[in-house]
Amino acid sequence: MNLKTEKAIDVLLSKMSVREKAGQLNQIILEEEKAESLKDLIRKGEVGSFIMANTEFAGHEEYKASQLEFLNELQRVAIEESPRGIPVINGRDVIHGHLTGYPIPLASASSFNMELIEMSYASTAREAASDGIHWSFAPMMDISRDQRWGRIIEGSGEDPYLSGKCAAAAIRGFEGGDVSAKGRIAACAKHYIGYGAAEGGRDYHKTEISDYTLRNIYLPPFKEAVKAGVSTVMSSFNEVSGQPVSSSRYLLTDILKDELGFEGFVVSDWTSVENLIRQRNAADKKECTELSLNAGIDMDMVSNCYIENIEALVSEGKISMETLDNAVRRVLRIKFKTGLFDNPYTERININLEEDMKIAHDIAAESMVLLKNNGILPLDKEAKICLAGSISDDKKTVLGAWSYADTSRTVTIKEGMQKAGKIVDFCGSGIPYEMQRHFRNSDIIVLAIGESRDVTGEARSLANLELAASEKELVYTAHRFGKKVVGVLCCGRPIALESVEPYFDAILYAWHGGSGTGLAVADILFGNICPSGKTAVTFPRVTGQVPIYYNVPSCGKPADGYYSADAVKNYEDCLGSPMYPFGYGLSYTEFEYSEPKADVLEISRHDLKNGKKFLVSALVTNTGGCDGKEAAQCYIQDIVSKMTRPIRELKGFEKVFIKKGETKTVTFKLGFDELGCYGADGKFDVESGEFDIFIGKNCLETKQIRVKVTE
Ligand code: NOJ
Repeated sequence: MNLKTEKAIDVLLSKMSVREKAGQLNQIILEEEKAESLKDLIRKGEVGSFIMANTEFAGHEEYKASQLEFLNELQRVAIEESPRGIPVINGRDVIHGHLTGYPIPLASASSFNMELIEMSYASTAREAASDGIHWSFAPMMDISRDQRWGRIIEGSGEDPYLSGKCAAAAIRGFEGGDVSAKGRIAACAKHYIGYGAAEGGRDYHKTEISDYTLRNIYLPPFKEAVKAGVSTVMSSFNEVSGQPVSSSRYLLTDILKDELGFEGFVVSDWTSVENLIRQRNAADKKECTELSLNAGIDMDMVSNCYIENIEALVSEGKISMETLDNAVRRVLRIKFKTGLFDNPYTERININLEEDMKIAHDIAAESMVLLKNNGILPLDKEAKICLAGSISDDKKTVLGAWSYADTSRTVTIKEGMQKAGKIVDFCGSGIPYEMQRHFRNSDIIVLAIGESRDVTGEARSLANLELAASEKELVYTAHRFGKKVVGVLCCGRPIALESVEPYFDAILYAWHGGSGTGLAVADILFGNICPSGKTAVTFPRVTGQVPIYYNVPSCGKPADGYYSADAVKNYEDCLGSPMYPFGYGLSYTEFEYSEPKADVLEISRHDLKNGKKFLVSALVTNTGGCDGKEAAQCYIQDIVSKMTRPIRELKGFEKVFIKKGETKTVTFKLGFDELGCYGADGKFDVESGEFDIFIGKNCLETKQIRVKVTE
């Protein structure tokens, strides 16, 4: 906490009326056509923040940047004509790129490359800051174990550790060391908390999460975000086990603010304060305000509850001045931290769009996961190749939901392959029978197919995770000609691939990879880049396996489908194992792991608690035919514990470049934070006993060593 800032806030608070204070907690829509009435509201001190979105489904909207002159004029009114001259803060959903489209977050998590993630968010921040955006509503860090949920694309998958690291990288990218610096913007860790556990993958639905699971699975990414200094947090729409988050003091104040020590402000989601009425938790907007502000939501996104009701609630003693001041203090703290008091106006920044596109290409390439390869990839450039499929020449789909990037800069897969120097026979989505002619005349058929971005993102869940019938039909048709079939799958979420997998000779999962998709696909297909992405989320065989995730606890019967050799025990009609496990991805080369070694085989709880760490390492040798990158992963298993713990828990990863024939050492540092977990009492601790430490290629292919924790 900065004492000078806190003193400046004390001075402001001492002068502000209750209405002005409520104004700082009020976020309204930036409607350009209502410029004059917006200015009037600012003059009265009733606007703390603008949201640059027209509808509640901003993720499916077209992008329209506001004119800087207009934004600066509103800011001028705030500085020169509002009662205390407090600047407004402009927020927008800048989720995975601004002018340049980066891969959807679920894809970039699959790169396991935190440096690239940070770089992509730093360039996103520059592009957004130059458009007058002070604050992004990202990173989204909801753990999701349900591939049907449309918003699974926005997070980093099913693993708390990976999600936390990706969130921290995004926050570093957005905010840098000093968020007031030019080209940096405030980040927002969202959605706090448990939103990704929506029942049945149905967006906004109830969640039933025990405190034990909440703390061990859903909380860790937020812990990591707070550690990374995130400026703001967005509360979620959902209820957790009967209590809407918007009215939960336990979740918002006791855990987030008091226990984790979060010092920034909490913004609600879009009208989620008012939603308490629809959740039948509050009778009217006044009660919504009383519940939410007292619970710990500091800023009300667009429901006008706070501005309409705070004064009355304070005078009735239902909201204390201390609670109100505390919320305002948090908002002002971030306005100081972002430098808005010193530099309220936006000036254009020199953006190097070419550099940003280069990052987009690199991160897209590292995000793509090679799921299958019978040896057909990389493609033989001399072969007769035919490119077909709904996404083969599509600029928009690959940008994914929540993207406002300029499609004119997107390179399609067709263009990418042409740029890579190979003229392919292109037949697109094709007219029936014409396509077959193309297929017949080629050696290899590349099918760029997948799912529309319109079935991903907010309020766009799916009940059926298989490819659409028309996409499947194309796969079967291509296969029928006896040619080699390569699938380039452009999807937001993991698709259930069991019914089509045998018909492919190779599958490259390209996701919705952003502006760089086309060139990155071409570079991988032609072998200019060795694929290195690993799945950040489990791929089910069929929809009925959902939820399926790797960090499942032992069930006590020999039927742990994910891990068991006899995986058929889970279902009569389907193997229990996933189609592709967490952390999985092939390469054009081979990596061999040695048995892991630890620097100590015993360590005491006492030492762990005092910060002592131990090292576990393994040698990774590139035994294949080309240079490549490998995302080495480290998992633990607590052999016996008071509460059940997952069979594997990711606790480290390292992406290393290893030249053909070379060996590198990967080393993981483990200590109290990595071995411990929250117990039934809500306390974080390490139990004494044995732990297996695994190092390997994915959660199933590992080698292990046992380490003992003594009392
Ligand atoms: C609702 C979404 O849940 C949230 O993620 C987004 O930031 C807001 N709308 C604002 O667009």
